[in-house]
Amino acid sequence: MALQILQTIENISSIPTLPTVIERLTRLLQNPKTSAEEVGKAITTDQALASKVLKLVNSAFYGFPGRISTITHAIVILGFSTVKNVVLTASIFDIFRNKGEGMAGFDLEDFWLHSIACGAASAAIAKQIGGLEKEECFIAGLIHDLGKLILCQYLPDEFRSALQHSAENRQLLYESEKKLFGSTHAEIGGYLTERWNLPTNLQNPVKYHHQPSPAHDNHPMTAIVHCADILVRALDYGNGGDAHIPSLSEQVGKSLDLDSIDLDALLDSIHAEVEKASVFIQWT
Ligand SMILES: [Fe+2]
Ligand SMILES: [Fe+2]
Repeated sequence: MALQILQTIENISSIPTLPTVIERLTRLLQNPKTSAEEVGKAITTDQALASKVLKLVNSAFYGFPGRISTITHAIVILGFSTVKNVVLTASIFDIFRNKGEGMAGFDLEDFWLHSIACGAASAAIAKQIGGLEKEECFIAGLIHDLGKLILCQYLPDEFRSALQHSAENRQLLYESEKKLFGSTHAEIGGYLTERWNLPTNLQNPVKYHHQPSPAHDNHPMTAIVHCADILVRALDYGNGGDAHIPSLSEQVGKSLDLDSIDLDALLDSIHAEVEKASVFIQWT
């Protein structure tokens, strides 16, 4: 990353942090002897977060049958890993939703719709492919463009000029960012995911969603987010600030074996997932 931009970001003391409960959860979940009670206790130390987690697990988004009334109950029914993903999702929304203002060429509502839809589409593709955690794929898609929020909030002049450059030259935003200030929202978002100690599964889609390559990683999640990002733009779900729709990497098409996927079924599934994810639009 261009040194100057990195230093600017490193020196921002108000840069968002994840609640400490996330790190505690990661540690607890690494220990196979951890009990549901222990995890429940860790989550309920943050009461506001715990009640949001319960609201989410009982929402149409997760669609779990029956009412889940306590965190421990949620863990028993959904498992550690799903609950951790729900906590992470709730925390990310808490940190970024309704913060700051957009600017010309970058409408925050459109940005959120783009991000939520990308999460939903990533989950839909994961479902179609099989073998991946749907909730984790949702998070990867949700956070893929997080770097734009950092740019918009902390480096507004640079971001404004990149948006303008991208619109005037019909370039993708990340290309304009690279040209104007030597760094991209993907690198900045990636830096944030490192600082948050998120697993590499979640770091890499943020870092490489515009240029997925086996040289970076071979995890399908990066390919999925790359594909979902393009699909939701093509389907006109929100807008992440790009003047036009990026093209799909040929190698991603091959690695996900997109030719063998029933595209109609996939599109139906994306629409259904986006519909369910609309619970996040009114998130407070
Ligand atoms: Fe992006
Ligand atoms: Fe995007």
